[in-house]
Amino acid sequence: MNTTKVTVIGAGNVGATCAQICAERELANEVILLDIKEGVSEGKALDLWQTAPINYYDSRVTGVTNDYSRTSGSDVVVITSGLPRKPGMSRDDLISVNAGIVKQVTENVVKYSPNAIIVVVSNPLDVMTYCAYLTAKVKSSKVLGMAGVLDTARYRAFLAEALGCSPKDIQALLLGGHGDTMVPLPRYTTVAGIPVTQLIDKDKLNAIIERTKNGGGELVKLMGTSAWYAPGSAAAQMVEAILRDQKRIFPCCVKLNGEYGVKDIFLGVPVKLGREGVEQIIEIELNETERKDFDASAKAVKEVMNVFDGMKLI
Ligand code: NAI
Ligand code: 2OP
Repeated sequence: MNTTKVTVIGAGNVGATCAQICAERELANEVILLDIKEGVSEGKALDLWQTAPINYYDSRVTGVTNDYSRTSGSDVVVITSGLPRKPGMSRDDLISVNAGIVKQVTENVVKYSPNAIIVVVSNPLDVMTYCAYLTAKVKSSKVLGMAGVLDTARYRAFLAEALGCSPKDIQALLLGGHGDTMVPLPRYTTVAGIPVTQLIDKDKLNAIIERTKNGGGELVKLMGTSAWYAPGSAAAQMVEAILRDQKRIFPCCVKLNGEYGVKDIFLGVPVKLGREGVEQIIEIELNETERKDFDASAKAVKEVMNVFDGMKLI
């Protein structure tokens, strides 16, 4: 019998939330939660497993401290290990610490699960995805980052609130890096098929776009650390699309190989997600302003990639 296995590295706020959703939705037979802090993942996994009779699932959740042999043969690995943002910090401020963590984690992940699809969550997201890709030495279709699913969810949630409609009816797209330069696309935003621009005035829409760009920072200010419910849910939705071979189209951070006129930069674009990971990069038509904003975002991400390269970690 074919069994499926998901490993979540980092049993902190985002990792534990992602593991919980993977288990509750029975996305895999086995969910492994791994952390470096002694006992934390064992404790969280035990607590989660004790919700199985209540929440009615049978995915087996197991916690381990830094024992990668237990992650062996994972189909998907989600990397959430690393420091979260604190007030006053940008995502890019995390680069030096988190790059070391993501490198060490990825080396162990590929040693035991050479065929896994790797979903990176750690920040700065675009560059940590690049770091995992360089370390893993696998095809670029097998390493991708979670950002666009979260950023569009924030955008959609704000729109649903402003329009007094169900978030279920809002479809949206967003491009670029996971930072202030992200590019929400009103031209590709619809409410039950109706272009959003017909339902909301320009100023309100612009305010929502600005709030989306600062969506992570808004939560850091409120909580003193970064968000986890929506990030954990977003990562789990990507795991689901991969494991169930759903061919869903999500904005994800991937290596561009000439698409959008960009080469060798990790950036958020719409992709088709299935059992092979990134099965297609979808190129959409951009107008002049969208193109300018996209290029600015690519430039900002490239600068952080250069900082990473300068660290000569890999
Ligand atoms: P957290 O501090 O709650 O959890 C991080 C966990 O990683 C801790 O339990 C820590 O012990 C563990 N860890 C550290 N080094 C490790 C190692 N070498 N091996 C295994 N585990 C290790 O942080 P939180 O809130 O869960 O955030 C995790 C990361 O995700 C942060 O970098 C944060 O900025 C990022 N993030 C990214 C988002 C995105 O949209 N891509 C959204 C939200 C958070
Ligand atoms: C977020 O967007 C900080 O990347 C994290 O919530």
